[in-house]
Amino acid sequence: MPRAFPRLFIDASILYFLIVDVSPGIIVSTPRLVLRRWQPSDRNPFAAMNADPRVMEYFPRPFTVEESHQAIDRIEAGFEQRGFGLCAVELQADHSFIGFIGLSVPNFTAHFTPCIEIGWRLAARAWGNGYASEGAKAIAAHAFETLKLDQIVSFTAEQNLRSRRVMEKLGMTFNPDDSFDHPNFPLGHLLRRHVLYRLRAQEFGQPVK
Ligand SMILES: CC(C)(COP(=O)(O)OP(=O)(O)OC[C@H]1O[C@@H](n2cnc3c(N)ncnc32)[C@H](O)[C@@H]1OP(=O)(O)O)[C@@H](O)C(=O)NCCC(=O)NCCS
Repeated sequence: MPRAFPRLFIDASILYFLIVDVSPGIIVSTPRLVLRRWQPSDRNPFAAMNADPRVMEYFPRPFTVEESHQAIDRIEAGFEQRGFGLCAVELQADHSFIGFIGLSVPNFTAHFTPCIEIGWRLAARAWGNGYASEGAKAIAAHAFETLKLDQIVSFTAEQNLRSRRVMEKLGMTFNPDDSFDHPNFPLGHLLRRHVLYRLRAQEFGQPVK
């Protein structure tokens, strides 16, 4: 009996740290979105999104379920290693998963690498509501104000006008001299030519033309 109190005390403190450790892992919130670390419940909707040919129109091909699961594992490992990554996005309104917005490190070599890329991919049903732009602004603020990055870039196939528009609305600048051939697309592939947009810390928040 004399040991009962210390035992209870230690158990309570462990419980406290467990609760903190499994907290939702929110990176940033916006009026309509929560951008957070990934949860097991994201796996199925993420795989469904990556299997949709509309969503993957500007990528080499849709992902298999296994590729989607591996992507989440890689993203989460990146968060542990670097402290940033592509965030799972859920709607404040109903907590449904709608895709990702966040930061990543491209794994190929080009004239602008190494660098940190801001990127986004949302389920088609969520498009056209301004969600990508809203989440991207919050991630850019996080990149410059919390992570103290000097510059972020974004790139996409030159035909991907929807994504380019998100880059423009974020205040990113496009220089045609930065365009490049993406090594993940074979020579002659229609989507091989990519455009690069840049955003420097001092430019963020300036009025967008
Ligand atoms: C790119 C993507 C994230 C945009 O999401 P979203 O939430 O619909 O984006 P927003 O609503 O914030 O902004 C989209 C902008 O593109 C515009 N737009 C939509 N279709 C367009 C088109 N065909 N041509 C030009 N602009 C277009 C919209 O009008 C909007 O601009 P506006 O606010 O000035 O009207 C979404 O379409 C997506 O997930 N696409 C597939 C994955 C992908 O391509 N990811 C990027 C790879 S780099």
